[in-house]
Amino acid sequence: MSHKSPKDFFAPLAVGAPAPLREIPARPSRAIHFFDPSNPKMVDKVPQMVGTVDVLLGNLEDAIKADNKVAAREGLVRIAQETPGLGGPEAKTQLWTRINSLDSPWVLDDLTTLVAAIGDRLDVVMVPKVQGAEDIHYVDRLLAQLEAKAGLTRPILVHAILETARGMANVEEICGASPRMQGLSLGPADLAADRKMKTTRVGGGHPGYLVREDPKDGNVDGPRATYQQDLWHYTIAKMVDACATHGIYPYYGPFGDITDVVAAEDQFRNAFLLGCVGTWSLHPKQIEIANRVFSPSVEDIKHARRVVAAMGDGTGAVMLDGKMEDDASLKQCLVLVELADRLAAIDPQLKARYDEIEVD
Ligand code: GLV
Ligand code: MG
Repeated sequence: MSHKSPKDFFAPLAVGAPAPLREIPARPSRAIHFFDPSNPKMVDKVPQMVGTVDVLLGNLEDAIKADNKVAAREGLVRIAQETPGLGGPEAKTQLWTRINSLDSPWVLDDLTTLVAAIGDRLDVVMVPKVQGAEDIHYVDRLLAQLEAKAGLTRPILVHAILETARGMANVEEICGASPRMQGLSLGPADLAADRKMKTTRVGGGHPGYLVREDPKDGNVDGPRATYQQDLWHYTIAKMVDACATHGIYPYYGPFGDITDVVAAEDQFRNAFLLGCVGTWSLHPKQIEIANRVFSPSVEDIKHARRVVAAMGDGTGAVMLDGKMEDDASLKQCLVLVELADRLAAIDPQLKARYDEIEVD
């Protein structure tokens, strides 16, 4: 079988379409806030959210009633056209959409309408229920044709939701299927259903998924501590590896219990520590949590800058507070420092907090 040459991945897939990017820009995207473009109450809030959240996502797929699919699509076009500062390469708040699934009767019109009408404002198209590279190839070529037709100069990026067992099995080929691939999100609800997991929760843990301390003195009926485990650890870690391998960005997904802000924060923080850059937000109060959790703490940045300063040319080893630091731990620190710099560039409050740090 003759494979496509690596060079060909960087040729547009349609005559007149913009050239694919060689690197996916690391734009801050701590919270991807979902809204229903057919819901007037949510739409009214959009202009005042611009500048307060990294990504606003017009949702066209699940959670939008079949009768509202066309209204949602048209609503999104209006919002993109009428909201200053939303979407496009310079915008502080990116504009994303989640299109309907590729086997639905709506997705073709979603793509043809949105690219023609607001393709210059649309930063990322999130594709749900992706099964394998073939789904990305379909969207890739179609986007190129539509971009060429619309005369766009910048390629629209693609984000896949990891929410089928086959998608999980194919996660690496999905990440590498196109230079448009921007990232992946975990879709814990659809994925749980597809895998026939027995949780009915949208993300988060489950009290039944636990480990139990050994019996004391052989007494199986005696008191024994239990610890709830993370149902999503394997999946998130696998997603992070696949994304890092391909130079794209991993995200946690929805956390459905809006009232449990503590557990949402824990789930988000676990994802952040494992390598994710952001999460979905289903309610304005989750934006604040995500912005906080997916920004490195002042303490971490203070420590990281100290290591950077102490490591000089970046080689060798030093002792700081009784701990060994070397080339590798310097790289760990640079992950945080570089992220902090990117976030500070768009978040003045965060910048002020990082600027106050004195490295002694
Ligand atoms: C998100 O789409 C999910 O299914 O969890
Ligand atoms: Mg889903």
